[in-house]
Amino acid sequence: MTASVNVVSHPLVQHKLSLMRERDRSIKGFRELLNEIGTLLCYEVTRDLPLEMVEIETPMSPMKAPKIAGKKITFAPILRAGVGFLDGMLALVPSARVAHIGLYRDPNTLAAVEYYFKAPTDLSDRTAVLMDPMLATGNSACAGASLLKARGARDIRFVCLLAAPEGIAQFQKRHPDVPIWTAAVDERLDDHGYILPGLGDAGDRMFGTK
Ligand code: URA
Repeated sequence: MTASVNVVSHPLVQHKLSLMRERDRSIKGFRELLNEIGTLLCYEVTRDLPLEMVEIETPMSPMKAPKIAGKKITFAPILRAGVGFLDGMLALVPSARVAHIGLYRDPNTLAAVEYYFKAPTDLSDRTAVLMDPMLATGNSACAGASLLKARGARDIRFVCLLAAPEGIAQFQKRHPDVPIWTAAVDERLDDHGYILPGLGDAGDRMFGTK
């Protein structure tokens, strides 16, 4: 069975995404909005984390209270645009571990080429949240999920800002066990693998490199 695609339709997410799409949005504004949406998507992607009842003391009395069970989450941004979500997610889960995954798109083949990978040694007992703002061809997301699996990750969730139907199809084919969270599913890819209507190159717009 294929894992779900969760479109986060919350009005705050949708409003902020529309601001990000606007051609004249400043680099500063784009970056801030991506972080803010990162926080909101983090809230959604962690919605089903298991809780356990633990003994605590309030100023009034002892009680059993719910806390998140198990080891902490690993956030896994795909460099470079994935780091745009990171601070926003760490704002909600400050003790999370971070795995950096360096992949670039070969401009001719659009294939994902690995150039860096640094993760906590054992990912098998942590939830890994793989993140990249744009799920376009799906090549980077697929490679990122494969690298996490090779390091033992079993519970992986993928978070993006925008997805193309082509990217979703490819990702679900290669990683049917990994659910997706996205703020929107756009129409299609253009001939260069960019999402339409999309928002352009997320890395360039975050870092001002164009
Ligand atoms: N990467 C981007 O930054 N934008 C796209 O539209 C597709 C891939």
